[in-house]
Amino acid sequence: MSVQEYLEKHMLSRKIEEAVNAAVRAKAPDPVLFIAGHMRRAVPAVITRVRARQILDGHGAPAVEVELHTNKAVHRASAAGAGAPEGAAADSAGDSERRRILARAVADAVRVINDKVSEALVGMDPQQQAQIDQAIMDLDKARHKAELGANAMLAVSIAACKAGAAEKEVPLYKHIADLVGKSAATLPVPAITVINGGKHAGNGLPIQEIMILPVGAKNFEEAMQMGSETYHHLKDIILEKYGAESSNIGDHGGFAPNISSISEGLDLVIAAIERAGYNGRIKLAIDVAATDFCAGKKYDLEFKSTKKSGKNFKSADDMIEIYSQLCSEYPLVSIEQPFDKDDWEHSKKLTTLELCQVAGDDLLMSDPERIKRAVNEYTCNALVLKINQVGTVTEAIEVVKQAKDAHWGVMVSHRSGDTEDSFIADLAVGAAAGQIKAGAPCRGECLTKYNQLLRIEEELGSDGVYAGENWRTASTS
Ligand code: PGA
Repeated sequence: MSVQEYLEKHMLSRKIEEAVNAAVRAKAPDPVLFIAGHMRRAVPAVITRVRARQILDGHGAPAVEVELHTNKAVHRASAAGAGAPEGAAADSAGDSERRRILARAVADAVRVINDKVSEALVGMDPQQQAQIDQAIMDLDKARHKAELGANAMLAVSIAACKAGAAEKEVPLYKHIADLVGKSAATLPVPAITVINGGKHAGNGLPIQEIMILPVGAKNFEEAMQMGSETYHHLKDIILEKYGAESSNIGDHGGFAPNISSISEGLDLVIAAIERAGYNGRIKLAIDVAATDFCAGKKYDLEFKSTKKSGKNFKSADDMIEIYSQLCSEYPLVSIEQPFDKDDWEHSKKLTTLELCQVAGDDLLMSDPERIKRAVNEYTCNALVLKINQVGTVTEAIEVVKQAKDAHWGVMVSHRSGDTEDSFIADLAVGAAAGQIKAGAPCRGECLTKYNQLLRIEEELGSDGVYAGENWRTASTS
């Protein structure tokens, strides 16, 4: 092909002339940069390939990382865990065996992504999130996310979402808000872990987490300031009361003093809030994760103890008594997973008392069918959204809408041992969730979410609204 033919084929003279004219019209201070940007925008982005690799998550366990290439850039995403190793084999395995199971699942997912997923997505427009997610789901349909694993699907879906935002030249949270069909931006109230127990710590505390919600902060930045000051005062109080060995941290970065009762933990946190000077401006939440200590129809509050007193084997109705008492004695505004994952009856009984937010985690599994049932039966009144249980960005947005339509609270949640991907921060803002749960102000995989929210708030300036006291009802217009 001659030079002339090449120029004509690509209409280069006309395109360059148009770009030069646009730079002149705009009186661009740096015309070369302007022309480069103008011409780049004239070429639509298309996905050219998807590559996956194994990385390590916050537990040092294998996880899937994805790089989605377009003709313009590369976009990276990862999702916690490997997805596949649920079930008896993984549950009964020790840590090293579990790691091997995860590694096999991740290796399988990497192969499928590099081969089938990449082939299916090549040529697609990264702005078309719903079409991309449908293509991912179609590959896996018959196997109910078993072949790819929900986490691997999610990593591809998130990488595509990042590519879509880049192509639109808007921040990720803004692109997500567009996908949700909303316009305003709401900064969530952080549910900051300060004490860990349950399966997340080696202490005697049966419940998994005690969290603080700085609902009285004027903005997200102040909320994190209040949260981290309280966290550090709590450390001092624990050191004074129980000694240095009790200030070790648990799975989400919360402290894990060797306490065994919920009220002992709440008292410590209240003392820390008072010492920090935030009385009345910080509320409390607990994640009971009761499925982990449900035995038959009873709840074993000493499930981690080798010397059981036998006095702490509670019925579901006893648990309701305990929760009612706690709500009357403390500024406790949210209880997550208060009963076994299939105890619909008692969850409903507690929710109906209207003592506080009752948030469904294992009960709902972020599953639209379970959410539908819970909405109809009023089994709980808030969704704990773990997006790697859902599988794709589009499906995650759908379940947020489902919960919002029912006037539920929505708590976007990390996973324990998450990766350093901060996507859920943008999701919480774009979908106006109102609440985000990402662990303590400690450990990189937790801070990456909170720090991203600090950046978003700064970027939004006066357009950003902190959910604050509206943490349960936040919504975008
Ligand atoms: P999980 O816990 O990832 O271990 O389920 C997360 C949470 O519920 O906080």
